[in-house]
Amino acid sequence: MKAIVQAKYGTSEVLDLRDIAKPEIGDSEVLVRVRAAGVNPGDWAIMGGLPYIARPVYGLGKPKNRVRGTDVAGQVEAIGGAVTRFRPGDEVFGSSRQLGGAFAEYAAVSEDALAPKPTNLTFEQAAAVPMAGYVALQALRDHGKVKAGQRVLVNGASGGIGTFAVQIAKSFGADVTGVTSTRNVDMVRSLGADHVIDYTKENFTRTGQRYDFILDNVANHSLSDLRRALAPQGMLVPNGGGFDHRWIASGGRLISAKVSFAFVSQSLATFIVSPKQENLVVLTELIESGKVTPVIDRTYPLSETRQAIDHVGRGHARGKVVVTVSNGVTS
Ligand SMILES: NC(=O)c1ccc[n+]([C@@H]2O[C@H](COP(=O)([O-])OP(=O)(O)OC[C@H]3O[C@@H](n4cnc5c(N)ncnc54)[C@H](OP(=O)(O)O)[C@@H]3O)[C@@H](O)[C@H]2O)c1
Repeated sequence: MKAIVQAKYGTSEVLDLRDIAKPEIGDSEVLVRVRAAGVNPGDWAIMGGLPYIARPVYGLGKPKNRVRGTDVAGQVEAIGGAVTRFRPGDEVFGSSRQLGGAFAEYAAVSEDALAPKPTNLTFEQAAAVPMAGYVALQALRDHGKVKAGQRVLVNGASGGIGTFAVQIAKSFGADVTGVTSTRNVDMVRSLGADHVIDYTKENFTRTGQRYDFILDNVANHSLSDLRRALAPQGMLVPNGGGFDHRWIASGGRLISAKVSFAFVSQSLATFIVSPKQENLVVLTELIESGKVTPVIDRTYPLSETRQAIDHVGRGHARGKVVVTVSNGVTS
């Protein structure tokens, strides 16, 4: 099969389109014939082996899994002996094995990280959902326990996670503020945001407005500024952060955040996303009921995965970036 593989860490130059063997599936895994694969900042990070502290997990000198990509949508090709919920031919979406495998014609996916594709989505739209949808759902529902009428602010509202977070928060009945740049103001408003702040013109931490929940996908404000924008019982999820610090990325900021929130009434929640079928099912309900629609920035063919990852790596994606895999199938 064709796949995007990398033999060492580096810039997108390390990614090559190669012919490799199809992945072998375990008893509880499904072999998916990939039709589309979503791109995430995590793919860019693992490509570069960043942060260095994560290399024991990624692979010390080179990636253990040499195929990048985790978000996947396609058709079931084969199932492991213990798989009960899927049959060959089913249209599905989910997360490939941890640390990669989706930018390829076939991907191995655990049965527990897979669900039927939402009926109203294309494969490209479905591949845009898993990672960003999981993060937004986990942040707003599980950690924020966001309720109707609460004031929610999403920093980085036009990105992959932000576009889901705005829509999911609205579906919970929250009063939503999205922070984005000028070119994305109308798009974020069209997602249902009640208020949109153009960060090139206004600093949301200095407006005097206070929020019950802030999902920060960007990490461009100090923790004390973010706390000033939080209500006395408000919660911050410091989800974003770049890789300027190549050893620990945003690890230092998260430790500072734990310390600075330890003795105040405001709260902090940090988490690493975990793929779960039940969350794919919740996301599917939101999508099929029309409350959430994936926003696609651009699609690239598999042969241009380098450009797709570079676009996401620059940090200004407008919704999700997706790699399409024709895989001998005409859509
Ligand atoms: N907790 C977890 O397990 C987990 C999982 C996945 C991802 N993440 C992290 O979540 C973060 C966001 O991921 P993503 O997929 O949403 O990224 P993304 O799709 O690359 O989106 C980035 C967005 O940030 C916006 N942005 C850039 N500078 C900004 C600023 N100064 N103020 C407000 N917005 C700004 C950009 O909008 P403009 O173009 O308008 O500037 C862009 O839309 C990343 O840091 C990622 O590593 C965490």
